[in-house]
Amino acid sequence: MNPAAGNILPIGVFDSGVGGLSVLRALQAELPLERFVYVADNGHAPYGERDDAHVLKRSHAIADYLIASHGIKALVVACNTATAAAIHTLRAAYPELPIIGIEPALKPAAALSKTGVIGVMATRGTLNSEKFRKLLESLHGSATFVLQACDGLADAIERSDAERTLALCMEYTHTMGHFGNAEGEMDCLVLGCTHYAFAALELTTLVGVQVSLMEGGLPVARQTRRLLEKIQPGALATDPATQTAHAPMFYSTGSVGLLESAVHRWLGLECPTLPLQLA
Ligand code: DGL
Repeated sequence: MNPAAGNILPIGVFDSGVGGLSVLRALQAELPLERFVYVADNGHAPYGERDDAHVLKRSHAIADYLIASHGIKALVVACNTATAAAIHTLRAAYPELPIIGIEPALKPAAALSKTGVIGVMATRGTLNSEKFRKLLESLHGSATFVLQACDGLADAIERSDAERTLALCMEYTHTMGHFGNAEGEMDCLVLGCTHYAFAALELTTLVGVQVSLMEGGLPVARQTRRLLEKIQPGALATDPATQTAHAPMFYSTGSVGLLESAVHRWLGLECPTLPLQLA
């Protein structure tokens, strides 16, 4: 390692598909000198409507691959569903590796909300998880949360199906109730799945600009920085040359084309995506 460049090993990031790009966007802004390797497990998605055993198996297969083939110095689980199902076993399996997960932004929403009524959109897997139950319990009495499992929405966003994305956003926000600033209305909407950040425009149009949409990418990026700084001095990359020399790397276990166009659309990058087979 060149000490002047800091630790230039990459940071691994994964999701069931394109959703984690919303987290990668925040990571790149917070840690612009770092290299990232992103795995979209779109050949085995959606995670949110599968059982825990499937999500656990996939999360460990991806972590094994990122460690063995890329020597990552940290792992970001850019998926609420995988964090809920697998973060504890991942941390137990790799005690030396900093592992950062994401959870629906209920705490920041409770701190921000004036009406005390907060909408939460997430996958069925996240809402049914033990981890989410504990999160809700920890906020008991601080706000009322209106929970909505959004079957099909991550898949529609993954496929860039604009018509279906809008139809599902309409259906789910309508079912949840009234949004706005008046008493009893939801003035915050938590996007509890990383895919939903890419439907922010549709959601804002439906619920109104006065409603705050709460994403989890920024806190994850800050936590990644804090954890790396704390664990060992020199853990962060410090040389601007390393960043220009290494664009992020993208791998897909399913449709390479869908990931490539999402990377272009949401990150403004022309990066080739490589196919990846992981049993
Ligand atoms: N993006 C993932 C999340 O944050 C889930 C999408 C899926 O269901 O695969 O929960």
